[in-house]
Amino acid sequence: MIRIEQLTKVFGTGDDATVVLDHLDFSVAAGEIFAVVGPSGAGKSTLAQCVSLLERPTSGSVVVNGETLSRLSEKQLRVARRRIGTIFQSDGLFGRRTAAANIALPLEYLGVTAAESRRRVA
Ligand SMILES: Nc1ncnc2c1ncn2[C@@H]1O[C@H](COP(=O)(O)OP(=O)(O)OP(=O)(O)O)[C@@H](O)[C@H]1O
Ligand SMILES: [Mg+2]
Repeated sequence: MIRIEQLTKVFGTGDDATVVLDHLDFSVAAGEIFAVVGPSGAGKSTLAQCVSLLERPTSGSVVVNGETLSRLSEKQLRVARRRIGTIFQSDGLFGRRTAAANIALPLEYLGVTAAESRRRVA
């Protein structure tokens, strides 16, 4: 379960401040497919980055499976992110690798065994 509470993201300060996410509340159940739609610049990518804490929310909280990610330190976040998969909007695949080898790449960095990696890629 992902729970977003009063999530706010402001870029810039003072006169240059832009409120991109303004006190959002929603939750996504395990297994649920949840789409966020909106025009270019609406804040979809900013929201996705805040949910995985690649961007720090200005305020509010992000709770994933009961763990409040927005309260974690950078070190704790690095561990938590191992359980969060992100597919970016722009091209993020290596053309010299097969589809399976692309999926396996982060598992290699995490030191997952070859057998476990094959299981998870499948
Ligand atoms: N790092 C940043 N610094 C300042 N402003 C930013 C930053 N990132 C995004 N923005 C601004 O936040 C707003 C939302 O951008 P975002 O990229 O989240 O929109 P989007 O809905 O994903 O758009 P698209 O459909 O084009 O991908 C835009 O006004 C953008 O200029
Ligand atoms: Mg985007």
